[in-house]
Amino acid sequence: MGGDVAREHYARLAASYDENYAYSPAFVEWVSGCILRRLRPGPSDVVADIGCGTGLYARGLAEHAAAVVCVDASEAMLAQIPASERLITVAAPVEDVAAGRVDLPGERLDAILVKEMLHHVRDRAAVIAGLARLLRPGGRMLVVMLPDELTYPLFAAARELFAQQQPDPAGVAGEMRAAGLDTGLTYESFPLVFPTERYLGMVRNRYMSLLSAFDDEQLEAGIAEIRAAHPEQEISFTEALAFALGTASS
Ligand SMILES: C[S@@+](CC[C@H](N)C(=O)[O-])C[C@H]1O[C@@H](n2cnc3c(N)ncnc32)[C@H](O)[C@@H]1O
Repeated sequence: MGGDVAREHYARLAASYDENYAYSPAFVEWVSGCILRRLRPGPSDVVADIGCGTGLYARGLAEHAAAVVCVDASEAMLAQIPASERLITVAAPVEDVAAGRVDLPGERLDAILVKEMLHHVRDRAAVIAGLARLLRPGGRMLVVMLPDELTYPLFAAARELFAQQQPDPAGVAGEMRAAGLDTGLTYESFPLVFPTERYLGMVRNRYMSLLSAFDDEQLEAGIAEIRAAHPEQEISFTEALAFALGTASS
């Protein structure tokens, strides 16, 4: 998904993003715990959340760090971030930050979170290398992403498109190693249950950027396909996330 299409998608979604994407407070708490255990922010640390969106996870990081620099290309998403001295917003594409065309506040970063945004980036290796250069020695970069096989109960055409577009977490971990970071890759999963109509409403609202590739008619056909496969009142599935954690040498 190119820059303008992504910006349009997130501008449309911004106000309802947390409602659709947060799933539930328990889910956000689980993801936040996965992030905090790996990034280990300390009270004097400056952390950057790249592609932070509405700051869903920057908020949790800010409780443990001196400041979180929230970077996103979408002004509409950044506008949802609550006002806080510890949440500093920067409206910029990650490509500009990684190439040094946009400076972030502070000297070197102690930690960087990149959650579910790398699939929007064309030259991933260059972006990862550019971000790695912003880390202080011993600094950590955590990339959180969906695995390359979707666990969601979407319709077949959406699953196929996902398989074509989604970067492979092992490949991303390799790009982090190539950028000089000592990197490990782990996976965790969380069980989710939604009233079927709520899940179908999220799909109709194109809660994943991937769904923007389908027009209204295709989406309704896809929703009918999901409904036929899930006649039950509740849909359950597992959210799986890949965590690639890289550390800059000291
Ligand atoms: C799926 S959302 C993830 C938001 C947040 N990290 C989270 O997990 O809730 C992807 C975010 O990446 C941002 N984004 C997409 N392309 C970008 C780019 N080239 N530079 C910076 N941000 C970008 C979008 O505006 C959106 O807020």
